[in-house]
Amino acid sequence: MQIKGQNVVIIGGTSGIGLATAVAASAAGANVWSASRSADKVALCQSNYPDIEFSQVDIHDPAGLKDLFEKTGKINHIVGAATGANRTMVPFMEQTDEQFREAFNKFWGYTNVVRQGAPFLVEDGSITLVSGTPARKCNPGMSSVSCTGNAVEGLVRALALELAPRRVNGVAPGIIDTGMFDRLGDNKAAALENIGKGILLGRVGAAEEVADGIMLAIGNPYMTGVVLDIDGGALLP
Ligand SMILES: NC(=O)c1ccc[n+]([C@@H]2O[C@H](COP(=O)([O-])OP(=O)(O)OC[C@H]3O[C@@H](n4cnc5c(N)ncnc54)[C@H](OP(=O)(O)O)[C@@H]3O)[C@@H](O)[C@H]2O)c1
Repeated sequence: MQIKGQNVVIIGGTSGIGLATAVAASAAGANVWSASRSADKVALCQSNYPDIEFSQVDIHDPAGLKDLFEKTGKINHIVGAATGANRTMVPFMEQTDEQFREAFNKFWGYTNVVRQGAPFLVEDGSITLVSGTPARKCNPGMSSVSCTGNAVEGLVRALALELAPRRVNGVAPGIIDTGMFDRLGDNKAAALENIGKGILLGRVGAAEEVADGIMLAIGNPYMTGVVLDIDGGALLP
């Protein structure tokens, strides 16, 4: 499918998977609006990618999202790629209720994106939401991440039914080398290399590889209600 000249809005699009998707969509000729919270990231991206329109918005700010969607007029494709929450990776029984609920802020952010964005979506448009491998395969200590991912994937299927003929899909990344792991500081590269050894394809993924999956979900006019796994085989035993 051609996305040349189409309008694409990406929330969480100044780093990692969202930014790689913005760059791919722009390279394919789409008009791209890409947004996140941080003024610094927005400014840096704007100077690096002048063909994309970057702006500041928090996924938890429905009015800010609505303003952004309104600016575009009609929208062909919406991508929800924001992290949107802090996650506490400890066993469920050691986790506070507050910590567990906090992880779900990613999900509530995505519901905001859909509520505010869907009214602007053209009939043959699409929404793509990013979940993650832990929705279906996780290690101990990842209960809140797993449940949040499952909630996102459930939302994808429910919305595919309700918003048809608009299409709604998900993309579930495995371990991907993005800003999400910047908290590891100088240990990031070594830690990701080590994690990669335990993945079927022997390495962690790149943001551009997940963006490829999102571009497929955006572009395939007969695909809806699907969650695409881009994870180097991480779901296999
Ligand atoms: N990397 C992985 O291994 C992996 C695995 C599974 C799932 N995922 C999922 O993939 C998605 C993208 O993550 P990533 O790996 O690309 O991480 P990333 O490089 O840290 O990018 C996250 C993006 O989300 C934005 N963001 C975070 N909170 C936001 C908020 N409240 N409102 C608006 N924007 C917000 C960030 O910008 P600001 O800080 O400026 O807001 C940034 O642009 C996330 O949903 C993540 O859960 C990632």
